[in-house]
This record gives sequence, structure tokens and C-alpha cells, in this order.
Amino acid sequence: MNWIAATNRYDVMQYERCGRSGVLLPKVSLGFWHNFGAEDDYSRSREIMRYAFEHGITHFDLANNYGPPYGSAEETFGRLMDDDFRPYRDEMFIATKAGYNMWPGPYGNWGSRKYLMASLDQSLRRMRLDYVDLFYSHRYDPNTPLEETLQALVDIVRSGKAFYVGISRWPLEATRFAFRYLRERDVPCLIYQGRINLLDRTPIEEGILDLCCAEGVGFISFSPLAQGLLTDRYLYGIPEGSRMSKGKFLRSEMLTDKVMSRIQQYNSEAQAEGRPLSEYALSWILRQPGVTSVLVGASSPEQLQKNLHVL
Ligand SMILES: NC(=O)c1ccc[n+]([C@@H]2O[C@H](COP(=O)([O-])OP(=O)(O)OC[C@H]3O[C@@H](n4cnc5c(N)ncnc54)[C@H](OP(=O)(O)O)[C@@H]3O)[C@@H](O)[C@H]2O)c1
Repeated sequence: MNWIAATNRYDVMQYERCGRSGVLLPKVSLGFWHNFGAEDDYSRSREIMRYAFEHGITHFDLANNYGPPYGSAEETFGRLMDDDFRPYRDEMFIATKAGYNMWPGPYGNWGSRKYLMASLDQSLRRMRLDYVDLFYSHRYDPNTPLEETLQALVDIVRSGKAFYVGISRWPLEATRFAFRYLRERDVPCLIYQGRINLLDRTPIEEGILDLCCAEGVGFISFSPLAQGLLTDRYLYGIPEGSRMSKGKFLRSEMLTDKVMSRIQQYNSEAQAEGRPLSEYALSWILRQPGVTSVLVGASSPEQLQKNLHVL
């Protein structure tokens, strides 16, 4: 029997306009960087996804290289579409990206037209979709003319394979150029994806968030919990099975005494307000003018449930 999503799924979530566009995004969005690869338990991934959708999360963020191995998070997503979500496609806002090392040889990386176009075709096949709602340049490429990367984004929208485009982790001046180039071709940049959290405020300090506000471009913050550092996960050691225990993307060396004392300070401030650190950390980001959504990861529905308390 087919899964039917709860009918009260839009009761709690709040939606925010993405810049000066017609698109509303949930204040909490779900990322597929971890917990959806071929090495993860499919039934757990499915539970997380169902929980998200049934609580009003409509925006799902992927990239060609999420896994491991590369491509497998998109394959899991395709399986989820077939198993549960095909009837809900028009209620979902699905993003993918290209920019990092994906396949061998000179055409599987960075920002050439060749790479972006071929990568999106591969992503659509893995995700079993005709189009994505949002396609990103995942990183700035200093060796490819910006016009080439940006014109590829314009042409991708014109081809109907993506409805909107965004950029991620581009530096300020290149971002300014991108916003103007895309706007002049009537394919305005929908959103910028960068990292803002209590431990890393670079896009605020560099003026990226102000630029987004001024240009009417949305901003979505990835790793809002600093991969789990801004939760109770590491307050008393490194738990078995945690991202840090796996030692790949969040290494124990990152938990220096200085970082730990900042985390403890934020935890005391959270406790004084009677809320968990994760909720305190997410609500700080959502209060920054210009931030559209926080893009969380979760290794269980329970974590997502806790994170949704920020609403
Ligand atoms: N554009 C880019 O370059 C870029 C870069 C990075 C990420 N992203 C996007 O941003 C998304 C989110 O990144 P992220 O996974 O680093 O986000 P995050 O929300 O900062 O960290 C998520 C991890 O923190 C732990 N966690 C979450 N909620 C928790 C809670 N309530 N209590 C205890 N632990 C909790 C879990 O790790 P455990 O495994 O330890 O349980 C979870 O997998 C990615 O999936 C991806 O879509 C984009």
C-alpha cells in the first residue's frame, strides 16, 4: 500500500519569501550531505525524509557528490521519489549542485559549461526527475570565465531542466558580478548558500548577507549547527556513531579548548533561556535579517524533531 503523508503537514512550519522572488521556503530545510548515501541504512533515510515532509519541510538540498560514494545521495533520493514521494512532487522544492570533483578527467570538476551541463543531466537521472527546482554552482572557479559558468546557469533555466539557479560559497565581488549578470538575462539568482552559525559568521563579516538583502536574493545557511558542535552532542565527549567519531568531515582536532569554551558559553546562554543549545543556535541564525532558511542535517527523525522546535 502506498504511503500517504499526514494531512496536517502544513500546520506548524513557517515559510519565508526567498529574496524578491515568488518562492516561499520553509524556515528549516533538509540537507542530504550525510545520512542518505549508499552506506547509510535506507529505512532510516526514509524515516527522516518522511518525518521532514510530514512536518512541512518542503525544501531538500542535494549535490552531485553527496554520498558516499559520490552520487549515491541523489540515487537514494530517486528511490524515495519512487517509493513515497512521486505524488507530492509539486509540493517539493528540490535543489542540486555541481562544482566539486565528481568524475575523473578534466571535465568532472569546477565551473565549465561542459561540466555543469553534463552533471545536471547525470543528477536528473539519479534523482529520477525531469527537472530540479533549483540548480547551484557549488563553488567559485577562479580559472573559468565567470560569464561561462553563469551563461550555463541561464541556459539550464531556459532548457527547463531547472526552474531557478543559485550560487554557493562564491566570494563577494564574484557574487556581485553573478547577481548582475543573471538579472540582466532575466534569470535572477534565487538564493546564495553559505555558512552562517554561532561559530562562523564569515558571510556576515564579508558583506555577502548585506549584498543578498540589497539585491533581493535569498540566503540559506548550511551547517547551521556546525555539523553537530552547536548541539549537546559533544558536551560530554565524542559519542559512538556521531559524525566526529567517523573522523572524516568533522575531526576531533576541530574541538579545540577555545571552541569548546565557546560552545559551553552558548550552552549556558541557552540554558538561561530554558532551551536546548541546538534550538538557541538555529534561532540566532533565523533572526539575522536576510536569512531565508537554515539547512540542517539529521541522522534521525528525533534530531529533526528537536531542531523543529525552533519554530
Ligand atoms: N554548499 C556547501 O558547500 C555545503 C557544505 C556543507 C553542507 N551543505 C548543506 O547543508 C546541509 C546541512 O549540513 P550539516 O549536516 O553540516 O548541518 P548541521 O545541521 O550543522 O549538522 C547536522 C549534524 O549534526 C548532528 N545533529 C543535528 N541535529 C542534532 C540534534 N538536535 N542533537 C544532536 N545532534 C544533532 C547530526 O550529526 P550526527 O551524525 O553526529 O548525529 C547531524 O547529522 C547538508 O546536508 C548540505 O545539504 C552545503
